[in-house]
Amino acid sequence: MSDNVIAPSILAADFARLADEARAVEEAADWLHVDVMDYHFVPNLTIGLPVVQSLRKATTLPFDCHLMIADPARWAPAYAEAGAYNVTFHAEAATDPVAIAKDLRAAGSRAGLAIDRDTPVDGYLELLPHFDLLLIMTIKAGFGGQAFLPEMLDKVRTARRHVDAGHLELRIEVDGGVAEDTIAACAEAGADAFVAGTAVYGAQDPAAAVRKLRAIATNG
Ligand code: DX5
Ligand code: ZN
Repeated sequence: MSDNVIAPSILAADFARLADEARAVEEAADWLHVDVMDYHFVPNLTIGLPVVQSLRKATTLPFDCHLMIADPARWAPAYAEAGAYNVTFHAEAATDPVAIAKDLRAAGSRAGLAIDRDTPVDGYLELLPHFDLLLIMTIKAGFGGQAFLPEMLDKVRTARRHVDAGHLELRIEVDGGVAEDTIAACAEAGADAFVAGTAVYGAQDPAAAVRKLRAIATNG
């Protein structure tokens, strides 16, 4: 599990050309990060299940679905059934995160737990054996293009210590403002999966941007 994962976020892509935008990073990226927002858990509205189902047929990249939605217990397993590799839901939206993780695994995907900007990670560390991924937001969830919050890296360090001490098989993912000037600090703090929207799809050559991010995450 030492190799880094780079996951471009299609939130920053051209929504009228999603299949092309996915294919543009197919050779360079590890996962495609798909931000699902419902206008309730976050004030923004993006895409949902029908788009994920259609896009699934258009690319070989594994989908890393990030559900910023209310009531993940009701909706999350459908994303696993749609073929997502990993489905991450927010701790703040879940009453029984472990039950949802079990449902996701039973439905055929990995299970991820996301922690938003204002949520301490400490209360969730004991749940991590039930998960495959912990997503630490490095912005407030809801919109792309926000400034990276370096103070969030304390949560990454705390989680990394816990994961290593417990020998857990778990990725630690950062999401928000991850770019050439911030990714090294994320890797240094212990992240091994990196979501990047603007830094990839805002670039002239998205695949080259992914390769550059990977090089910096790996080599500093
Ligand atoms: C925002 C989303 C992010 C977003 C990141 O809530 O979860 O995945 O796409 O965008 P950038 O990389 O532009 O900060
Ligand atoms: Zn995201």
